[in-house]
Amino acid sequence: MILLSGIQPTGRLHIGNYLGAIQNWPEFQKKYTSLFCIVDYHAITVYQDPKRLKQNIYEAAALLFAAGIDQKKSIVFVQSHISAHTELAWILNCIMPMGWLERMTQFKDKSQKQGKERVGVGLFDYPALMASDILLYNVDVVPVGEDQKQHVELTRDIAGRFNKLYGKTFKLPKAIIPETGARIMGLDDPDKKMSKSEKTYGHAIYLLDSPDDIRKKIMSATTDSLRSIRFDKKRPGIYNLLTLYERFSGDSRKDIEKRFQGKGYAKFKQELADIIIEGLRPLQNKYKELTANKNDIDTLIRQGADKARPMAEKTLRLVKTKMGLL
Ligand code: AMP
Ligand code: TRP
Repeated sequence: MILLSGIQPTGRLHIGNYLGAIQNWPEFQKKYTSLFCIVDYHAITVYQDPKRLKQNIYEAAALLFAAGIDQKKSIVFVQSHISAHTELAWILNCIMPMGWLERMTQFKDKSQKQGKERVGVGLFDYPALMASDILLYNVDVVPVGEDQKQHVELTRDIAGRFNKLYGKTFKLPKAIIPETGARIMGLDDPDKKMSKSEKTYGHAIYLLDSPDDIRKKIMSATTDSLRSIRFDKKRPGIYNLLTLYERFSGDSRKDIEKRFQGKGYAKFKQELADIIIEGLRPLQNKYKELTANKNDIDTLIRQGADKARPMAEKTLRLVKTKMGLL
């Protein structure tokens, strides 16, 4: 069974990315042939500062390795290093009805915010490229957040359409969505998902934040004026912090509520900051070790592309043959 997931190098990775995605990925290597793609062509669907993009690609790769993804067991690679991704995306474009793309929630949200005159064609076409990422590798399962489920379903639809037109070529992939508690909210605004594009200081804890920053951000996180420390979805601020406590400690909700019964928010936040700092420490140490020599990560990324490329090219050749292009 083959697994593929992707992450956009659009900013620095935060604990939402960690708990919702990256932390689970090393586990997958045991069960699946796994590919992890840093989707830089998806990132440029909105403007990226060139220097920062380069740094973000490097940092994302290094963090994946630091989190325990092993280039010997899995394949970590950068999307733009393999030209088959954009080639297949073009081909899929040609059989992709506009209406399907117009129905995508992510596009509707983003284009409404920016307006049609401003938004790039790439953003509209984003799901075709994502379908191409998946279909090139005969993928069975795609671990993604809830928000990406629609794109994986579109991938199945376009694969089905291709198979109908040109004969069975693609496998139909399935999304796997992590269990609840995987949606981490902004610390400054618990009604909004923690996001790489939100720039306020107290919004997100980045994986490479110093202990000082982590503590400051937790201590100033938005809560409410009630006192009790309980998992109550109607109180999004404290619920989000408790979820972080649950995920970083591995303790049950009942035990956590019991531990903080009658205690104040300040005490709870102190302890939460402690376990996040400790929880991220091994990752941060490993990151430092891996990046001591910059070339090491570059070499690993190159190796990843060298492993993935023949797989992608084989699929592309098959597609072209079926279509009469070869
Ligand atoms: P993105 O940051 O949109 O490139 O997402 C990369 C991965 O992290 C995807 O699998 C997302 O579902 C996951 N992710 C992003 N933000 C969060 C969040 N706030 N909580 C949980 N998972 C997240
Ligand atoms: N669109 C995904 C996101 O924003 C990233 C992505 C691109 C992806 N290609 C993919 C995820 C292929 C899974 C499989 O999170």
